[in-house]
Amino acid sequence: MIPQPFIQSLLARVDIVDVIGRYLPLKKSGANYFARCPFHDEKSASFSVSPAKQFYYCFGCGQHGTAIGFLMAYSGLSFSEAVHELARDAGMQVPNDGRSSRPQSDNYEHLIDVLSTAAKFYRDTLGKSPEALAYLRRRGLSAEIAARFGIGFAPDGSPLQRVFPDYQNKLLSTAGMVIDGEQGRRYDRFRHRIMFPIHDRRGRIIAFGGRVLDSGEPKYLNSPETPLFEKGRELYGLFIAQKAIREAGFALVVEGYMDVIALAQFGVENAVATLGTATTPHHIQMLLRQTDRIVFCFDGDAAGRRAAWRALENALETLRDDITLSFLFLPPEHDPDTYIREKGPDALREAAAQATPLARFLLDNLRQDCDTASEEGRARLVHDAKPLITRIPAAASILRLQLVKAIASMSHLTQAETERAFGIAPMGERPRSATTNPAARRVSMRKPPPSSASTLLRLVLQHPALAARLPVGLIPDDTAEGRALIAIVDLVDLGEPVAGLGALVERFRDTPHGDTLARVGAELIDTEFDPAVIETLFEDGLRKLSADAITQEISQLMEQARTNTLSATGRQRLNDLLREKSTLAAFAKPTGLW
Ligand code: UTP
Ligand code: MN
Repeated sequence: MIPQPFIQSLLARVDIVDVIGRYLPLKKSGANYFARCPFHDEKSASFSVSPAKQFYYCFGCGQHGTAIGFLMAYSGLSFSEAVHELARDAGMQVPNDGRSSRPQSDNYEHLIDVLSTAAKFYRDTLGKSPEALAYLRRRGLSAEIAARFGIGFAPDGSPLQRVFPDYQNKLLSTAGMVIDGEQGRRYDRFRHRIMFPIHDRRGRIIAFGGRVLDSGEPKYLNSPETPLFEKGRELYGLFIAQKAIREAGFALVVEGYMDVIALAQFGVENAVATLGTATTPHHIQMLLRQTDRIVFCFDGDAAGRRAAWRALENALETLRDDITLSFLFLPPEHDPDTYIREKGPDALREAAAQATPLARFLLDNLRQDCDTASEEGRARLVHDAKPLITRIPAAASILRLQLVKAIASMSHLTQAETERAFGIAPMGERPRSATTNPAARRVSMRKPPPSSASTLLRLVLQHPALAARLPVGLIPDDTAEGRALIAIVDLVDLGEPVAGLGALVERFRDTPHGDTLARVGAELIDTEFDPAVIETLFEDGLRKLSADAITQEISQLMEQARTNTLSATGRQRLNDLLREKSTLAAFAKPTGLW
């Protein structure tokens, strides 16, 4: 956990306009900045960034968030990665709580230096090594493609000793380039291997894979997990393939380094590889930021099918109705490298186009594993399907509906019975309020007047200083907005500094208030009131809070009077309240600007 005060001071230091401006061409218009939204396809610029609120919101697709949220959504970073990235750019050091293995900012740059120095040495060495060059030639790699992927060669011995004058430096082990053996003897991790540099999304080298030239073990040796490198979060070749993925309209996910390189050499440049791990949801999310179609390519053998099934399971939570994930099974004797060399790029492209869509693969597999001719087999099918179907999120509700229908029919159940068996809410029924009767719809669409809590919350989000003037005991806690407002006032009462909307959203991240604040903030992105208006609205809101509280207490006391349980002090209190209420009413002005 990164301490909250650090996040707050980080957000106070960075400007969301700078952060997003690094990725999108922002144009100023009025108080806000605009660009075409990176999260959905559009011609006009509906993506707006508010410097005052330190918050972004897209009028087209509703995506919204803070600078941290933007980096997470845009670059596929985790919360902690996004915080580290912002901190690095702001020249701040993220406090280490002992659990986070992430680097301190200056260390990070040094690690990057270590890896790029080593990579340069490996590249230079390749050209001087007849043995390594002969190997690449035997594998059919052109010099041009070897250069494009930065392939190098790590000779025998511990050559990095000569590359790094301070070979004992801790950075070398942190970077995963050396191994500390017995009696403090240190040696190179990579010896006598063809070296494949692994780049992050910005093109910086963060790790290596090294292949033996002969039949030694292990065939591939990868960098260990380091502060720079987390296998489940990186894809080999993504930096190089990014442009081609956008152009081809899909990404091809393969298993090996050599596959990516061979495909690129034959003109199929939109391929990436997982790094000796299963495809993770994070991998998929990263790719979905570049394209809406992913083809997973597996060997046609049993191991390939198992790997494909694992990828399917990991993909379920990332499904959306506007994407297509499919599975391409090569003939058992092939991997993409041998396939494209034998059949050519067009055959591979054609095979990718014919790949099995995820839903079909899922249904076929379920059917194969269960004997649908018996009641037991069909029960088993529903049983097996449940953990898969329930993992599909609302963003893919139409696909999920189709799967439910297909499973219902395979298992001789109705759709409703299947949904009950899965424990999921029935789909395909409209909520009652969305009636087709136009008169009724008009009524249901009329917004209820804003409660004083929601009005006050909106004011506080624009001017957090106002929170200090709110009597927390009077704020009703019967709505999400009321509860969020109470939480903010509590913070302020505890003396925590509250900077603005973006800071508040991050302060309450992963709590229900975070979502409420982000939703209200998104709605307010374009609203900026005159300070005088704010003051008037705020005073009205305060008065209404008191009036509401008084009204409520009055009705409680009246109820006691009706049941003859009202004490003498109660009667006195009731009289006072009724008088106070009439005074307040004389001041009351209509609120309801929202
Ligand atoms: P493969 O053994 O299928 O490798 O492993 P490949 O890419 O076809 O290799 P070549 O063609 O024999 O050179 C697929 C991937 O699994 C990981 C590597 O990422 C490899 O590219 N792997 C494999 C390892 O990490 N370690 C190993 O020992 C083997
Ligand atoms: Mn291979």
